[in-house]
Amino acid sequence: MPELVIPDVRFHASFIEAMADQNDWLSPYVDDADQLADPDRFARYVDEVISHSRPGAPLPEMFVPNTTLWWVDGDTFLGRLSIRYRLNSRLRRLGGHIGYWIRPSARRQGHARAALAAALPYALELGIECALVTCDPDNVASRRIIEDAGGLFEQAVGEKRLYWVPTMPLARPTPTVDEQGGTRTDRPAGSGWRRRRPPSVRD
Ligand SMILES: CC(C)(COP(=O)(O)OP(=O)(O)OC[C@H]1O[C@@H](n2cnc3c(N)ncnc32)[C@H](O)[C@@H]1OP(=O)(O)O)[C@@H](O)C(=O)NCCC(=O)NCCS
Repeated sequence: MPELVIPDVRFHASFIEAMADQNDWLSPYVDDADQLADPDRFARYVDEVISHSRPGAPLPEMFVPNTTLWWVDGDTFLGRLSIRYRLNSRLRRLGGHIGYWIRPSARRQGHARAALAAALPYALELGIECALVTCDPDNVASRRIIEDAGGLFEQAVGEKRLYWVPTMPLARPTPTVDEQGGTRTDRPAGSGWRRRRPPSVRD
């Protein structure tokens, strides 16, 4: 059963295979991606990726602290997802709070939709009550995934469509039958999608 996990060297072989599929989304901040086949270099890469969630850790330029999670099935690496803890001016326009990538050979099997759904509780735990998620206007798959996750369209900015996705479980009205035989609609207490002001932006 696919799941989100913390990056780990045990996925080395599968990760390298996925890089052969397409490596541009896998390691955007690694200059020597071709060296990752080396187990020691890969171990350093994994440590580095994990370190980006630690306060004060060195980050590539224009990056904010973030958690990278890998979407895996057993020992098979299927994709990656990153949750950024806050927005800077670039993320506010382009990348948003959450970005995801599924290796081409595993696409169109529902992985991205499931990975995004699995990531929302992590984002909520990080204090992100509504996550900015963006996609290119012609990225039909991503647009569908975001809208299915409850994403509210904010605006199109340049080459991106911006959506706010609630990270709290969606409180869909549940019709129930009351004692008089009528129907009423209850919302679970303490949950629900409330429109909030978008989080502030800091560089
Ligand atoms: C976009 C991307 C994440 C989709 O991953 P995926 O695992 O194939 O997506 P899913 O299988 O969960 O598909 C979700 C929906 O999109 C549809 N879809 C998937 N690929 C599609 C395509 N190329 N064209 C049209 N629809 C597509 C699926 O049919 C599905 O809809 P349905 O359930 O109504 O049939 C993947 O193509 C990718 O990694 N692209 C490059 C990186 C990227 O664009 N990331 C998103 C921006 S942050």
